[in-house]
This record gives sequence, C-alpha cells and structure tokens, in this order.
Amino acid sequence: MDSFEFNKIAGAVLGTLLFVTGLGILSEGIFYVPRPKVPGYDLPAEQAPAAGSAQAATTPAEPLPVLLAKADPKKGETDAKVCQTCHNFEKGGGIKTGPDLYGVVDRPKASFPGFSYSDALKSKGGNWSFEDLDAFINSPRGYANGTKMTFPGEKDPHKRADILAYLDKLSDNPAPLPKP
Ligand code: HEC
Repeated sequence: MDSFEFNKIAGAVLGTLLFVTGLGILSEGIFYVPRPKVPGYDLPAEQAPAAGSAQAATTPAEPLPVLLAKADPKKGETDAKVCQTCHNFEKGGGIKTGPDLYGVVDRPKASFPGFSYSDALKSKGGNWSFEDLDAFINSPRGYANGTKMTFPGEKDPHKRADILAYLDKLSDNPAPLPKP
C-alpha cells in the first residue's frame, strides 16, 4: 500500500468519525432530554385503598331490612332518575320502554296491562317483594335471564335500598317496610 492510498483510507476514516461526532452533538441539541435531579425512574407509588373500600369488599352487605330501615327515599328519588328513561313513575303514566312502576311494590310480577313482558319475567310468578325487587335491580339479567330490561344493574346495596324506599312511596297505600 503506498502512502497516497493510506492517506485516502485514513482520511475516509477520520471524515466518518468527524461526521458521527458532529451528528451526536447536533442531535443532542435537537433531542434535549433534561437530566433528572435524582437518577432513575419514578415507580408508581402503591395506592392507599380509598377509605371504606377495603371494608366494603370484605364485610358482606347488611341484610335488606336493615338497609331499608336506614334508607332515604329522597336520595332514592334522585338515584331513580336513570330508571325514568324507560319507566313512568306516575299513576296512569303508562308504558314507556318499560311498564309503569307506580305501585310496583307487592304488585304481581309482569302484570302491567298492555305491556308485552319477556318470557323470562313472565315465568317468575308471585308478587314483587322487596327482596325480589332488590335482586332484580341489582342484576336484571342475573335475576331473570332473558329479560328485556337492558339496564346493567345498580350494584350499591345502599342506593338500591334508597330506590326501593322511594318506589314504595309511589303507591296509594305503601307496603310497610320489613322490620329489621
Ligand atoms: C333501558 C331501559 C330501562 C331502564 C333504564 C330501567 N328499566 Fe326497568 N324495565 C325495562 C323493561 C323493558 C322492563 C320489562 C322487562 C321484561 O319484560 O323482561 C322493565 C321491567 C322492570 C320491572 C318489572 C315491572 C313489572 O311490572 O313486573 C321493575 C320493577 C323495573 N323494571 C325497575 C326498574 C328500576 C328500579 C330501574 C332503575 C334503577 C329500571 N327499571 C331501569 C326497562 C328499563
């Protein structure tokens, strides 16, 4: 290899090195990443459980009569707003997507005149007790698989009790709440 050829190769190598170094300096300018004061990444802190949630998960819900004794029909009226997209609450209000719920407590199931109930609900039989209403509102499909009520359910037992206490008031003679 003569010296001329050596120079050519050395030049090429040097040139490449210079180019790469320049690129590094340039890109550092473009992609500026501030150095953290403390090296390392933040790990998500372990979340403290929200007050009451752990308890709610471990203690079983109180029996329905106890919940009903503490229930607030005023709150129930607010929580039952969602039902009104499909149900009338007034006497003689008539059918919407679902049957009128005036006087539903203690009414024979699937009995509102003129409403075409699902077979799932028609096959239940008996009157709407607080227990059955509670189970149905908790999980319509769980209670009556195949029901037409496409409402996912109200999972909070306290809210359900409030709603039931309110529904009970929608009557000419409200049924007495069960004694705890
Ligand atoms: C998306 C519409 C929709 C919503 C929201 C809805 N329902 Fe219904 N509900 C229906 C339909 C439809 C039926 C008839 C079910 C069947 O035939 O299977 C029904 C049936 C019922 C029945 C049985 C009535 C009877 O005459 O036997 C009760 C009780 C009831 N709903 C309560 C509620 C309550 C309480 C809420 C609110 C927490 C609610 N529903 C929300 C559509 C709805």
